Amino acid sequence: MPDTSPTPDALDRATDAVPAAIFHGAGGQAVRPCTPASVTRRHVRMLDVRPGMNVLEIGTGSGYSAALLAHLVGSSGSVTTVEIDTRLARRAKQLYAAHAFPVDVVVGDGLVGRPGDGPYDRMFVGTTPPDVPGAWLRQLAPDGVLITGVRVGDLPGAYAVARITVDAHRRPAHVGIHHGGYTPMSAPGATAPLTQATGSGKPPCAIALLGARSGASAAALLAALDGKPHVEPTTAPGGSWLPRPRAFSKPPSPTVPASVSAPSTTADRMPHSSPTDS
Ligand SMILES: C[S@@+](CC[C@H](N)C(=O)[O-])C[C@H]1O[C@@H](n2cnc3c(N)ncnc32)[C@H](O)[C@@H]1O
Repeated sequence: MPDTSPTPDALDRATDAVPAAIFHGAGGQAVRPCTPASVTRRHVRMLDVRPGMNVLEIGTGSGYSAALLAHLVGSSGSVTTVEIDTRLARRAKQLYAAHAFPVDVVVGDGLVGRPGDGPYDRMFVGTTPPDVPGAWLRQLAPDGVLITGVRVGDLPGAYAVARITVDAHRRPAHVGIHHGGYTPMSAPGATAPLTQATGSGKPPCAIALLGARSGASAAALLAALDGKPHVEPTTAPGGSWLPRPRAFSKPPSPTVPASVSAPSTTADRMPHSSPTDS
């Protein structure tokens, strides 16, 4: 009987060469947040990484995804991963050194990408920014591909994964929205665990969101329940590029057009709630 099993492709080979247990731990979940290996591989496959490429990852986490990427680009390519949590960055760096994965680990806020170090053929963002920063697209090479978590609408808990391509002139060419979601990006030094927004309606109502790091999404939820328009600010560097897909339609604001972002504040850059994949 002929063998009809599919020929192993580059990602299958990378999966064999890069055991997830090294990064996730023998129990499978050594670090938090930690994206399931199958989800990581699904999104890495969508990224279409090839040998020799220059790849930027934002959100090192367990370190697994960047190790896969390093195997895919091979010795002629390069992988840089940016992590805001110094402990996770240190852990990943040690694992890469111990297991000979050529990944450059940078501690920093990935919201600005890696200015001055591109262009990148591929960018993989395993976390969800408040809005997709224009700076990321400007750091992509012609015909580059970016995969990132995105928010859907203004309500907490509405997440998806976007695959964004730019054309030969680095203009946005195509945006695909896919099932899934990544944990929201952290702001440097953000620690506040609870957000509360108080409504003006009668009877008085208040919303408390555990784990929130800003009032933005609580305010959005409250406004939706009150039937009022609400516009969230953005701190996306270079301006927000990707308009958030709306989960529901709302009446236009009488004072601020829905497409206009209010002035930014550091405290307002965090959405919250629990995405589905990480
Ligand atoms: C879901 S994990 C990534 C999982 C990773 N792809 C893996 O293979 O384990 C998201 C990571 O993004 C990091 N992160 C959150 N905000 C960030 C920011 N502003 N800049 C860089 N990294 C950030 C988190 O600390 C976390 O490690």
